[in-house]
Amino acid sequence: MQFDEVVTGRRSIRGFKPDPVPQDLVREIVALATRAPSSMNTQPWYLHVVTGAALDAIRRGNTERNLAGVPASREIRIHGAYEGVHRERQKGIAAQLFEAMGIAWGDKERRQDWVLRGFRQFDAPVSIVVTFDKTLSDNDIAIFDCGAVVNALVNAAWSRGLGCVINGQGIMQSPVVREHAGIPDDQVICTCVAMGWPADDFAANAVVSTRRPVDEVVRFVGYED
Ligand SMILES: Cc1cc2nc3c(=O)[nH]c(=O)nc-3n(C[C@H](O)[C@H](O)[C@H](O)COP(=O)(O)O)c2cc1C
Repeated sequence: MQFDEVVTGRRSIRGFKPDPVPQDLVREIVALATRAPSSMNTQPWYLHVVTGAALDAIRRGNTERNLAGVPASREIRIHGAYEGVHRERQKGIAAQLFEAMGIAWGDKERRQDWVLRGFRQFDAPVSIVVTFDKTLSDNDIAIFDCGAVVNALVNAAWSRGLGCVINGQGIMQSPVVREHAGIPDDQVICTCVAMGWPADDFAANAVVSTRRPVDEVVRFVGYED
């Protein structure tokens, strides 16, 4: 696939075929993704590729603890509820997804079911838990670097026919992830990426999220000189 085709074609995938993802293919995708730039080429990231019983245990533990009201224990700083324009954009993608899935805004039961799917990493056959070296945890640069590798990862996966969703919801309960994925104590859990073969008949997979127009995002300085 050409670069433009990958970048404009990629979208988050939230419904997967149960088929396994071969290790060699994950290796190929990781080799591409880790060409991502990083601060001073420090490459602080680790990608823990989890499947099978370990992933099922994470799904179960994450769901049970969230339903029991255990407060989220993310290992990077997170914000509270989005407000203003950010809240509007959040509502925008939620509306697109719910419309595709035929979930009415007021249908609490089906909305809750959607949240539970997120806790289960959308039942993807693979989850890639992204961590970085704890020695770098006092600043935001390592997280910036992890963002670069994650973006490259989802695009590389797409170029090979695989779908992904970056899934903060799937690792809200860090101790569960630590235990079942065997994350070493000297690493910080940043996020996870659910990955698998896109299910053809899952309506939300067709949703193309909107983007702010270029002229709203960009500002040119000095061009008129
Ligand atoms: C840091 C981060 C966390 C995310 N967490 C979730 C999540 O928990 N659940 C989910 O359904 N999507 C999650 N997403 C996916 C975004 O909703 C998605 O990327 C965005 O709506 C744009 O859609 P697109 O990926 O289809 O272009 C996350 C994305 C990022 C970058």
